[in-house]
Amino acid sequence: MCGIVGAVAQRNVQGILLEGLKRLEYRGYDSAGMTVMHQGALTRHRAVGKVAALDARVAEKSLPGVIGIAHTRWATHGKPSEANAHPHHSTDRVAVVHNGIIENHERTKARLQAAGHVFTSETDTEVIAHLLNDALDDASDERGALFAAVQHIVNDLGGAYALGVMSVSEPDVVIGARQGSPLVVGVGIDEAFLASDPLALLPVTDRFIYLEEGDVVELRDGGHIRIVNRVGQPVERPIHVFEHGDGAASKGEYRHFMLKEIYEQPAVISAALEGRLSDTGVLVESFGPEAATLFARTRQIHIIACGTSYHAGLVARYWLERYAGVPVQVEVASEYRYRHPVVPEDTLFVTLSQSGETADTLAALRYAKTLGYIGALGICNVPGSSLVRESDLTLMTRAGPEIGVASTKAFTTQLIALMLFTLALAKSRSDAPLDAGEQGEIVQALKALAPICQQVLALNDEIEVLSQAFAEKHHALFLGRGAHFPIALEGALKLKEISYIHAEAYPAGELKHGPLALVDSEMPVISVAPNDDLLEKLKSNLQEVRARGGQLFVFADKNVGIHAHDDTQVLHLPHIHEALAPLLYTLPLQLLSYHVAVLKGTDVDQPRNLAKSVTVE
Ligand code: G6P
Repeated sequence: MCGIVGAVAQRNVQGILLEGLKRLEYRGYDSAGMTVMHQGALTRHRAVGKVAALDARVAEKSLPGVIGIAHTRWATHGKPSEANAHPHHSTDRVAVVHNGIIENHERTKARLQAAGHVFTSETDTEVIAHLLNDALDDASDERGALFAAVQHIVNDLGGAYALGVMSVSEPDVVIGARQGSPLVVGVGIDEAFLASDPLALLPVTDRFIYLEEGDVVELRDGGHIRIVNRVGQPVERPIHVFEHGDGAASKGEYRHFMLKEIYEQPAVISAALEGRLSDTGVLVESFGPEAATLFARTRQIHIIACGTSYHAGLVARYWLERYAGVPVQVEVASEYRYRHPVVPEDTLFVTLSQSGETADTLAALRYAKTLGYIGALGICNVPGSSLVRESDLTLMTRAGPEIGVASTKAFTTQLIALMLFTLALAKSRSDAPLDAGEQGEIVQALKALAPICQQVLALNDEIEVLSQAFAEKHHALFLGRGAHFPIALEGALKLKEISYIHAEAYPAGELKHGPLALVDSEMPVISVAPNDDLLEKLKSNLQEVRARGGQLFVFADKNVGIHAHDDTQVLHLPHIHEALAPLLYTLPLQLLSYHVAVLKGTDVDQPRNLAKSVTVE
């Protein structure tokens, strides 16, 4: 993944670069580094670990400059070490930061070594620095030579990259390039910036150009910006004003971003619904002008996503089949993209992604375009992301920037978007099982959802007490049935991600086919028990656990008659329309894993080995 920042400014850029990196730490935090043009020379600071370590290095020995590039790393090629930290230099002439993977680097490295280049890292990135150094050897001294050199060498790069480049040959310039990894240009006043995500640059600008695949950009002293497309033609790209404000960048009164984002859910759920519902149904045009025609034609749906977004897709399968009567397949993108899927006639392709930049999901979308789907719907949280640009129809989830690596509000707003999709599809199809009366009931329940979520969040203190039972555990089992099985999967994923406790999720009916053997007094078993037609079956499954001495933790509808015992702790949730229960039951599981992680003292917002935006395969 990795995050990159670049600046061509009228002031010392060290602070801008460090702040930008801190805001990009969600993309990786194995090491960080920056190179600044200090008195005509490339001067570099690098440190293993988080950006704070780099900050300390810079504070020890500040080498100011008005032009620089910086990087925070999520290790792919080469362990986290200072030598592998970016920027990578070739002699004292070229500096490069890179997000992505250069797939043909081994061959290129062998060629460069044979030509006399000395490599100082194990990274794939270092080849780029040496390729540029050679290209500059062959170039004239004219202005624009670095821009031309980057355009030339990207032809030799296989794989994915977003690049930031500097050279002493043109000390007032930073070059950027993008292919397969995100990169935006920040437009300042007589200044210009580069970053993997606009969030990184919000302290210095709110105006952004989203580069397209294959674009190369030159940022020059005075804020001059020049872009060429993949075939080298000069292009103008529109400037977008960032409208989310900068509130997302601070934790406010909360101890962690994750907790802040959990508490934002009532507000962002309302935002995700705004302007998309009438009194009786969903406004199908919310998905775009062609949506009604496309939905009316849809006979099958394939949903593709990764991680938490995949779990949202699994919930949607239950909804789409039950309410819209359309058969659905849901699959993780990293599997789908390497299969040979058979696509029945009139199948709609749907991707789900918080970031809109997940490499596997994007690759699946591009592959799907060759397979004869009737269209591609992208449900995404980041406006202007690759997924949004490349989908035929889009629905934005409007969660606002999510910083905590463990996804929370992005998931619940995806569920809102997927319920809207379900209702829109049901409305567009004459043979959908959902009648107008039921559609109206769900719409009213959606409108009433935010305050009910608030009531569930008010159970925080009780959930914190429950969490104490988990701090010393090494394993946990999550159970759910029907649309709550994916909620159990999501609960288990949250616990593993941030507390490092091994957790598994099972459909409760499957317990007797194996996992029951694991149940003893040391195994906490967490279950969600909404008031739906599988309730009685779930109750029997819970008895099976109790009979084996398991410790049960049940989040149950207050009306279902599940009560606490010596071996069973129960937390009652307000009653909610069955269709929306998966959304509501997600919240206590988020809070539970949050409190367990806090008790265990892990790094809640930046758990080890993970990153938020996975722009590599
Ligand atoms: C990473 C993140 C997860 C996220 C997944 C998919 O693994 O840590 O939280 O669910 O990527 O990301 P996307 O942006 O496509 O939803």
